[in-house]
Amino acid sequence: MRKKIVAGNWKMNTTLTKGLELVDELLQTSTNDSILKIIAPPFIHLASVADKLNGKEGFELAAQNCHQSANGAFTGEVSAEMIVSVGAKYVIIGHSERRIYFGETNATLYQKVVTALANNLVPIFCVGESADDRSANVHLETVKQQLKEGLFNLQLDDFSKVIIAYEPVWAIGTGATATTHQAQGMHNFIRSEINKKYGKDISENTSILYGGSVNAENAKELFACLDVDGGLIGGASLKAAEFASIINSF
Ligand code: PGA
Repeated sequence: MRKKIVAGNWKMNTTLTKGLELVDELLQTSTNDSILKIIAPPFIHLASVADKLNGKEGFELAAQNCHQSANGAFTGEVSAEMIVSVGAKYVIIGHSERRIYFGETNATLYQKVVTALANNLVPIFCVGESADDRSANVHLETVKQQLKEGLFNLQLDDFSKVIIAYEPVWAIGTGATATTHQAQGMHNFIRSEINKKYGKDISENTSILYGGSVNAENAKELFACLDVDGGLIGGASLKAAEFASIINSF
């Protein structure tokens, strides 16, 4: 049975004090014990948030990125090993903001995935098409390419650890959520591509999260889609009450 997951990506938001208050509130209000809850604060807050989450059943910590090299002269970068050393078990890789603003290609992202897995860090690998891709009706092709180049060179054992997040770029931070039809359609497509490459067992057990303007109002219907196993939440994860209500709507 695949895991149901709600993950909050804080992006470059919150001071340490505000971030810790947010975690405190969340721990008090999110009552749904049946799903995995993941918090992805900025790197600099990871160790402190790890302290807060220590011993809290059902909560895990993620970084928002990692470098593809094990270590070395990469000023300003953070390695997978460092992330693990402060208590995180997950890492978001290939978020569209990394792809767009930092020029991360599928080839680089594949290296990041490999490095993360080598350090026992579970990748939450993001895929998703632009608005132009969708209007040109090449959205399936775009996502297929991202999967092929970013993940599908992994051996089956490694691939089976990966979580996928479908985040249409046009829905991120815009308030324009994918319809349940669009979300289910793409999630089903992703699962069928996994099936073709790795077989039915793996495809049935891979968690595929939806991200892009998920909020307390639309979470329930999105999570009810057959192939949607949870959400990767940006803006709404910065408001404890709203994030808790998304978690509790599963
Ligand atoms: P959003 O961001 O929920 O603010 O649209 C989602 C994401 O970028 O992961």
